[in-house]
Parts: sequence; structure tokens; C-alpha cells
Amino acid sequence: MSFIVAVDGPAGSGKSTISKMVAKKYKLTYLDTGAMYRMIAFTSIRDGVDLDNIDKVVDLLNKVSIDMKNDKFYVDGKDVSLEIRTPEVTAIVSKVAAIKEVRIKLVDLQRKISKGKDVILDGRDIGTVVFKDANLKIFLVASPEERAKRRVLDFKNKGIDEKFEDVLSEIIRRDEFDSNRNESPLKKAEDAIEIDTSFMNIDKVVEVISKLVEENKN
Ligand code: DC
Repeated sequence: MSFIVAVDGPAGSGKSTISKMVAKKYKLTYLDTGAMYRMIAFTSIRDGVDLDNIDKVVDLLNKVSIDMKNDKFYVDGKDVSLEIRTPEVTAIVSKVAAIKEVRIKLVDLQRKISKGKDVILDGRDIGTVVFKDANLKIFLVASPEERAKRRVLDFKNKGIDEKFEDVLSEIIRRDEFDSNRNESPLKKAEDAIEIDTSFMNIDKVVEVISKLVEENKN
């Protein structure tokens, strides 16, 4: 029997950093599902696909090959780990993630990759759609200001200068879009445990989740 941890929450709530650390600690396979939506968004820009033309989007989904290995992301064999984090991709990824056909393909892939493994997946719909029967469901939240602050720092560490106000308005726009779409909107599963990380450092959040993993593992 596999062990499944679902980590959902809005952009910048710390999902990926924390999920990676918990994965390492408990030898779980980590799946960054947001990166999968980003890879499709990247490909639609690369190929000039009009997102309002569903036939073209479906063509793209049928042709593209996406792959993940050792923290790196590949589209048609090319490493696009940096490209999928650019503001251009971030600006359209919510729109891509709202397309039903895209979600069907990626949810199917997420289930296939996870089959028979002990996994931790982070996203928006893991506990509500992808794995409704996950062993442990976490819903991470933090204030928009705190999340924007973290993102700016993240960018800074990568040598990219981003204005706090721009990042904050992008975060608020994306939350709104992700929470109000028809297809699998961002929402807390009834049986998820909510953790507000606004006033917690990363180690503290990992400690809280570790306790929950240990309680739920057996
Ligand atoms: O976590 P992220 O910022 O990399 O996610 C990118 C986008 O993908 C985000 O706007 C919401 C969407 N997403 C989704 O709809 N479902 C998921 N399971 C993961 C991400």
C-alpha cells in the first residue's frame, strides 16, 4: 500500500520548499504538479497556441512530452526548469490550468507517476480531486503580503529583481483566478489540516508536518 501526502494551498504559501524537505526526510517521491501546468503553459507560448482554441490546445497535449527528473523539468527532451518560472509563463499559467482538457491529462499523469509509490504532491486540487483518499492532507496558507515577500526574496537569491508591489498584485490575481475557476478550483478539502505559515519559519512548518506524517504513516 502506498502512502500519499497531499499539500495544497495558494501561490507562495511555501508548498514546494516544504514538500521537498518532507520528501527528503521520509524518502517520499516529490511531485511538483504546478510545474506540470507551467510546462504546458511554456509549450503553448513556444508553439504560439491560442488558449481560446481548444482544438489547438488538445493537439498540443497530444504531441508534447513532459518529463521530470532530479528536480529538473523537460519538455520534448529540453531542460526548461528556468523557463517555466519566468513572468511570461506565470502570467498565463492560471489560464492554462483552468482548461478542462489540460487538467484531465495532467491529473491522469499525476496518478500514473504516483502509482505504487510513497509520494508527496503539491498543488491546488490534490486533496480535493487527484487523491481524495490521501493518507494526509495539508492546506498551507499565509497572508498575501508574506507570500509576496517570500517570492521577492526567492527571486533576489536567483539574481532577479522583482518589485514587491508587482509580485503582490500577481499573487492576488492568481489566487482569485485559481479559486474561482469552474474546473477543480483551489479550495481546502474538508479533511485537510490547515497550517497558517505567516508567522512560522520553514523548519517549524516541517516539524509540524513531520509530526502529522508520523501519526498517519502506520
Ligand atoms: O504552484 P505554481 O505557482 O507553480 O502553480 C502554477 C499554476 O498552476 C497556478 O496558477 C495554479 C495551477 N495549478 C493547478 O491548477 N493545479 C495544481 N495541482 C497545481 C497548480
